[in-house]
Amino acid sequence: MNNNLSNIKKSKLFLDKGECVAIPTETVYGLAANAYSNKATSKIFRLKKRPKKNPLITHYVNLKMLKEDCVLNDNFFKLYKKFCPGPITFILKLKKKSKISKNVTNNKKTLAIRFPKHQLTRKLLKKLNYPLAAPSANISSKISPVTKEDVIDELGKKIKFVLDGGRSRVGLESTIVNLIKKPQILRLGGIEISKINKVLKSKMKFNKKKKKIIMPGQNNVHYSPGIPIRLNIKKPKPDEAFILIKKRKLFGKNFYYLTKTKNLKEAAKKLYKTLRMIKKKNFKSISVEKIPNLGLGQAINDRLIRASKF
Ligand code: TXA
Ligand code: MG
Repeated sequence: MNNNLSNIKKSKLFLDKGECVAIPTETVYGLAANAYSNKATSKIFRLKKRPKKNPLITHYVNLKMLKEDCVLNDNFFKLYKKFCPGPITFILKLKKKSKISKNVTNNKKTLAIRFPKHQLTRKLLKKLNYPLAAPSANISSKISPVTKEDVIDELGKKIKFVLDGGRSRVGLESTIVNLIKKPQILRLGGIEISKINKVLKSKMKFNKKKKKIIMPGQNNVHYSPGIPIRLNIKKPKPDEAFILIKKRKLFGKNFYYLTKTKNLKEAAKKLYKTLRMIKKKNFKSISVEKIPNLGLGQAINDRLIRASKF
C-alpha cells in the first residue's frame, strides 16, 4: 500500500511537470497527460506515433471538474448513474470556457470523457487539479497493453513512468456512446449495447459506416499483432498459431485457448494478452476459431476483424 502511495506521488510529480505517465485502468493501460496543457498532450501524440487528427479520451474522477468542461444531459446522467466508474466513454458537447487543450479534441466542439474504475488511477486523479487525457498506451494501430510489462513492451524507454496496477480486469477498451444528439454507439467495448439500451430504453445497434464519419482518426487497421490473422477457422495450418474460444481435449502445441468454459468476459480479458504472446513466439500467422457474436463476443469480433486487416 505504501509503495502504491509513493508511486501515485511519483506519477503526480511527472504529470505536474507536463510529462506523460502510463496509468492502469480496468479496460487497458492509458498513456496519460494533463488534458489542459498543449505541451503535455502533444507529447502523447509523439510518443505513440498517433495521427494528430485522432482525438483523445479525457479521464475524470467526479462530476465537479467535468461540469467545467462539458454540457451534461439527461442521457448522460442515466448512464453515469448505472455504469460509472466503469468501461464506458461518452461524447459530450464541450463548453466554450473549457480549458481542455485543442490537441485533445482536434479543435472540435465535442469531448470524449470517461470515469475509469481502477482504484490507483482514481486516487491519482483525486490529487490532480486537471483531468487526464489518455489514449491506450500502445504504438498507434498496435495491440493495447493490459499490464505494466505490455506498456514497456510497446513504449520502452520512451515512457518516464508506469503506474503499476496489475492486470486490467476487463481487457478491452471502453464502449463509446455519442450523446450529442440521439444516442449512438461509436465503438463496441467493455459494456454490452443491450445493457445501455435497457437504461436508455433505446434500440441502438453498432453502425460501422456512421462511426467512420464521426471518428475521422480511426484507421481500419488496429489492435494488430503485425502478422496475418484468419478468422472463423475450423482447422489451422500446421505452422499457424490457433486461437480457440474454449480449451479442447485434442490440443496442439500451437493452440491457445481463451477460456475453459466459453465465458465471454474471460475471453475478452485474455484476448490482447494472447495476441501479444503469440506475436512473441514468432509465428508467421494466426487463425482464430469462430467466436460467438453475442454480448462481449461482439466487441471481441470487432477487434479481431480490425486486427485481421493487417
Ligand atoms: O478504455 C478506453 O477507452 C481506453 C482507456 C485508456 O481509457 N482508452 C482508449 O483510447 O481506448 P483510444 O485513444 O485508444 O481510443 C479512443 C477513441 C479513438 O478511436 C478516438 O477516435 C475516439 O475515441 N474519440 C475521441 N474523442 C472523440 C470525439 N470527440 N468524438 C468521436 N470519437 C472520439
Ligand atoms: Mg487505442
